[in-house]
Amino acid sequence: MKIRLVPALLFLLLAPAVFASKEKPVIGLSLDTLKEERWQRDRDTFVAEAQKLGATVIVQSANSDDIRQIRDVESLISRGVDVLVVVPHNGAAMTRAIKSANEAKIPVIAYDRLILNANIDYYLTFDNVKVGEAQAGYAAARLPADRKARIVRIYGAPTDNNAKLFKQGQDNVLQPLITAGKVEVVHEDWALDWKPENAKKIMNAAITKAGRNIDFVVVSNDGTAGGAIQALLEEGLAGKVLVTGQDADLAACQRIQRGTQAMTVYKPLKQLASLAARVAVDVARGLKPATTATLDNGTKAVPSIFEKVIAVDKTNLMTTVVADGFHQAEDLR
Ligand code: BGC
Repeated sequence: MKIRLVPALLFLLLAPAVFASKEKPVIGLSLDTLKEERWQRDRDTFVAEAQKLGATVIVQSANSDDIRQIRDVESLISRGVDVLVVVPHNGAAMTRAIKSANEAKIPVIAYDRLILNANIDYYLTFDNVKVGEAQAGYAAARLPADRKARIVRIYGAPTDNNAKLFKQGQDNVLQPLITAGKVEVVHEDWALDWKPENAKKIMNAAITKAGRNIDFVVVSNDGTAGGAIQALLEEGLAGKVLVTGQDADLAACQRIQRGTQAMTVYKPLKQLASLAARVAVDVARGLKPATTATLDNGTKAVPSIFEKVIAVDKTNLMTTVVADGFHQAEDLR
């Protein structure tokens, strides 16, 4: 007899079975993207720590697509995970999927990026405003003494709540300097989906509009810094214009060593990802993990933890990023 499987049945047979229990909880981890180096590290640390604690993790990555991420979360819910950990592509679009999780009584932890207007249980992240302050502060400490500094600002994805917080931190430092006439913003824009090619276009537009006379490019992360630096390279300006970043990506640390990028902000991902795994497992087991702060997401004061960040340039790359084992010294030469 010929056996024919309908697609839904085929899916059920092929999808790894998950049998949740308090001792062996199942965690659904929904990521926006795995394109940037950092998210691969987040995933690897999270999964390793969760497994150590006896949990299983089902990982989904949405390739910067809201519809796909909502589908990912809904599929994790229907597979009966005990807890959801979500890095939203779009902090506002995720609200709908979280409603389904609430209905299924599955606790939700927002990881790194906040989910807005939703009933989430925890928010674990870095101090994102401090990231922006570190970036702008780096430029502010190096202003030309005899004239107004001309700066370009490249923000992150407008759909990412963090991008707004990085900007807010930068504003905290830059606004008083702009008011005092010490800094002039010659061009600014948001890099959609944090894409390096979008940052490159913004940098090209800045040079076309404002000329080559630019002192600083305050960029919100390393991926987009790479795009901006590519545009500067093509103009023979790389290394002459101070560029900021964030994440301590390997390529960015190499650029810092070479002098084409001035600084990055190092976020000890291992700490955050393993903390998140511990919190997720505790929540799945019905415990109430301790938090140190709350943040209003439009629906509630979300119990939160904000990890510290470290500004890194050529002078402390070895004593921070390398000393921490985040990169090997030989990879930075
Ligand atoms: C993260 C950054 C990252 C950016 C792009 C932000 O929400 O906090 O570390 O570089 O997203 O993925």
